[in-house]
Amino acid sequence: MNELEAILQKEILTRDDLTRLLKSEGVDREMLFRKANEIKLAHVGKKVYFRGLIEFSNICSKDCYYCGIRNSNKQVKRYNLSDEEILKAARFAYDNNYGSLVLQSGEIESEAFANRIEDLLKEIKALSADKLGITLSLGEQSEEVYRRWFKAGAHRYLLRIETSNSSLYQKIHPDNHYFESRLKSLRSLQEIGYQTGTGVMIGLPFQTVEHLADDLLFMQKFNVDMVGMGPYIEHSDTPLFKYQSELWDINKRFDMALKMIAVLRILMKDINIAAATALQAIDPMGREKAVRIGANVIMPNITPGSYRNNYALYQNKPCVDEEPEQCMGCLDARLAIADSEIGYGEWGDSKHFYKRTNSQLK
Ligand code: 5AD
Ligand code: FES
Repeated sequence: MNELEAILQKEILTRDDLTRLLKSEGVDREMLFRKANEIKLAHVGKKVYFRGLIEFSNICSKDCYYCGIRNSNKQVKRYNLSDEEILKAARFAYDNNYGSLVLQSGEIESEAFANRIEDLLKEIKALSADKLGITLSLGEQSEEVYRRWFKAGAHRYLLRIETSNSSLYQKIHPDNHYFESRLKSLRSLQEIGYQTGTGVMIGLPFQTVEHLADDLLFMQKFNVDMVGMGPYIEHSDTPLFKYQSELWDINKRFDMALKMIAVLRILMKDINIAAATALQAIDPMGREKAVRIGANVIMPNITPGSYRNNYALYQNKPCVDEEPEQCMGCLDARLAIADSEIGYGEWGDSKHFYKRTNSQLK
């Protein structure tokens, strides 16, 4: 048995083991991917669940150094979909049997914003006879707001930690963005009863493979239910762009993102792992490759076509010219190639959540 095989048989993986797995190449890498796929099939099956993603506004109060829609980027044309447009997209998701949708936007903390989301949640629940599952991805908010949204019908929340290393976090954010606040938000979400998702960017400037191993251990220790993580893709209108020459090659970032997914699947067997759109920005078949080695959730973009160009967190975002209808057939075909089935009309909740909370799977 070689070193890698021995690690793959262990019950408990250490930081060194995880680092070694993330550095695997050639036949070792193939072995890692094979093992991750086996674990995925045994614990969550071959179904892939859709979350229709509605990026309803790119207006953002934050100024993260990596993000294309950061507040200080004056090149961005800001938009905010009307309630009618959002509800139309929600109806599209419902009519097309998506099972769930994700409401995502730039981060705004205000009473008006909190009220708007609360009302939208109720309306989406009503138009879908309570059948559409709703995930929110609206950044850091007060505990009270998280509670109101939960009561109004949201049951999952995605809030990436971006990196679990607090000093790296500080390097890629301005001084008034705090790692501790991010953690506090994640804790409240879990306490309130959301299925809680987090994630990191892979291949950031100053980031090492050891940092990434720590990120995986963070996810395990935090006992998250869902993870969405993908490669960092530089954007020329952001402060981090100046480190472009120090980054890993884009193909290495892509490959490391795949290995992160595979290793996470081995570490946390029954969670939901999303195949990030950023993978597809690098490789047209990126998401399908992720599905083959551990991911089981895809978030097709159902934002009305005319707005998609303006939600550019990073450059070369894929499918910005398609209308939601065009994505349907395309995804069906793509996933058949990845040897998977689509769980149409199902919520596809995180099995881990039900085990963790000792409640019944819906
Ligand atoms: N490359 C990759 N992902 C990015 N995000 C923001 N900017 C980038 C980028 N340049 C991710 C962050 C954030 C999510 C909404 O988008 O992880 O949490
Ligand atoms: Fe923070 Fe966009 S400004 S992720």
